[in-house]
Amino acid sequence: MNDLTGKVAVVTGGNSGIGYETAKHFKAAGAKVVITGRSVDKVASAAHELGVTGIVADVIDLSQIDKLVAQVGEELGKVDVLFVNAGIFSPAPIGQNTEEMFDMQMGINFKGAVFTTEKFLPLLNEGASIINLSSINAYTAMPNTAIYAASKAALNSYTRTAASELAARNIRINSVNPGPVFTPIFGKVGMPEDQLNQFAEAMQDRIPLKRFGQPEDIAKLVTFLASDDASFITGSEYNIDGGINLNPILS
Ligand SMILES: NC(=O)c1ccc[n+]([C@@H]2O[C@H](COP(=O)([O-])OP(=O)(O)OC[C@H]3O[C@@H](n4cnc5c(N)ncnc54)[C@H](OP(=O)(O)O)[C@@H]3O)[C@@H](O)[C@H]2O)c1
Repeated sequence: MNDLTGKVAVVTGGNSGIGYETAKHFKAAGAKVVITGRSVDKVASAAHELGVTGIVADVIDLSQIDKLVAQVGEELGKVDVLFVNAGIFSPAPIGQNTEEMFDMQMGINFKGAVFTTEKFLPLLNEGASIINLSSINAYTAMPNTAIYAASKAALNSYTRTAASELAARNIRINSVNPGPVFTPIFGKVGMPEDQLNQFAEAMQDRIPLKRFGQPEDIAKLVTFLASDDASFITGSEYNIDGGINLNPILS
């Protein structure tokens, strides 16, 4: 099940959180894995811990994606699995979204994700699997997430159109929409710790399964989608959110 033996897998944003855990699962399933990220130190130490190849590439700079593709091609040849995971979260209320916050979130979460796929296409084997890490925020209208949500909704739209075009090469592309997952992403928003804890508690209370996701919850789904066990799945979206998208009327 979920065998990736002999496959080459690239994980963007693989030095932390969901990407890190998924790189671990890919390796355990038999893949040769490349992780990327922005920070030289973090990429090097994560690659060392995981026993995989680490390459620094900031997806907001398209020339760095070109260099990444060239290096992967030279060192590992063709690619079978592309996990487009790198992303940031910069919450702000409507009226307080700055141009910089807009450009960073759309530039990394949407443009960077799109051009990761566009530029890797020549290197992808027939039968390859692309998984875009999106978010349930694309649908939840959660306050303070308008631009983040738009970046993920745009990515899901790209995923569907790409699926219909890439089917001719038997390349599958799907989106995964997590709900809240316990990773370092929330600590990066600059919120004081007590406020962050209050937010987490309120969020957890709204999740029918009453817990945050763990990175391995997401990694298991992504590893399945990466494998040939998912060979009839393309253009789909998977909510993995403890039921938060159900919006039930709780007693
Ligand atoms: N955690 C959640 O609740 C949640 C829910 C739904 C969706 N997501 C999505 O899941 C993905 C992974 O997030 P996470 O929660 O695992 O967060 P995380 O622990 O902060 O990891 C984010 C990863 O993305 C990398 N990254 C950020 N900007 C980059 C850029 N410009 N170029 C290359 N790499 C970049 C980071 O590398 P550096 O450390 O080098 O910056 C890091 O490796 C994101 O797309 C996020 O939107 C997360």
